[in-house]
Amino acid sequence: MQFPTTRMRRLRKNSNIRDIVRETELDKKDLIYPIFFKQDLEGSQKEEIPSLPGEFRYSLESGIEFAKKLEDAGLKSIIVFGVPLEDDKDEIASPDYADSGIVQKAIRELKKQTDLVVISDVCLCQYTSHGHCGLIKENDDYDSGIEILNDESLEYIAKVALSHARAGADIVAPSDMMDGRVGAIRKTLDENGFYNVEIMSYSAKYASAFYEPFRQAACSSPHKGDRKSYQMDPGNAIEAIRECELDVIEGCDFLMVKPALPYLDVVRMVRDEFMLPLVAYNVSGEYAMIMAAIEKGFLTERAITESLLSIKRAGADLIITNFAPYVLFNELI
Ligand code: PBG
Ligand code: ZN
Repeated sequence: MQFPTTRMRRLRKNSNIRDIVRETELDKKDLIYPIFFKQDLEGSQKEEIPSLPGEFRYSLESGIEFAKKLEDAGLKSIIVFGVPLEDDKDEIASPDYADSGIVQKAIRELKKQTDLVVISDVCLCQYTSHGHCGLIKENDDYDSGIEILNDESLEYIAKVALSHARAGADIVAPSDMMDGRVGAIRKTLDENGFYNVEIMSYSAKYASAFYEPFRQAACSSPHKGDRKSYQMDPGNAIEAIRECELDVIEGCDFLMVKPALPYLDVVRMVRDEFMLPLVAYNVSGEYAMIMAAIEKGFLTERAITESLLSIKRAGADLIITNFAPYVLFNELI
């Protein structure tokens, strides 16, 4: 059947019709909020993050207060990042697995004071003196003469995950991109009785320019070299399937593609290939771009919900996004 019998515009006639035929919708429960807890902030202190307009680094107390407000507005889950003292950082990320660490404290308080699903980011980069996601060694075969050691790093990454599980994390989310990390974490968690703690693996994490605002926020840039020898090359999509496949074999519970908007093709491929819940990380650069354009009046806030919707339409079940507060408090969904 064709025009004039068929008229596509019939189904777009008014908002009631459009509402009942819409294929994909955003829901509050789809959003996961990334929150920064900073060690040296006290009481009700919070610190603006210049690279992420409208976002803050929180003290333990102010962060918990904010999390409660988000929960009241409909948020279901939160992912916790820590910003430790510069002076405490060392070659082996010691403040990362200290029981008294800022993330461990934040996890305990979130579990005590809210019903949110508490996810913890597991990585070494915010805690190492060199800013890499694993331990390092000089090796001229690598760019900038630095090798990021794989197998040696696994032990430390598993240690971080275990300390987050002990603090009460529901889900641990390794973002380091070392080979074998999901298996190493699963083994350590199981050996210590945490067989019910889930692993949300940053399975296909690209070496992306879109993390820049986050690195400024978390003070986690590598001091020398880059992350290209462990994070994925932006030209590769098929390789993302191999990464996901290995994570599934090693026992992860959620897959993730990161960033989201520049990699929607990868989100769709992973969705079609695997049966696991799929997370997409709408990263800091994606947030900063749209917020900067809104501030200048070049875009309206509809760009926020439209881009989040596109991530869901591509196949993501859950979206980690700095936009969560903006969307919830302004009732955009
Ligand atoms: C640390 C980490 C990064 C992000 C999440 N965890 C940065 C990086 O890999 O350098 C980026 C998040 C964002 O940009 O919003 N491994
Ligand atoms: Zn890292």
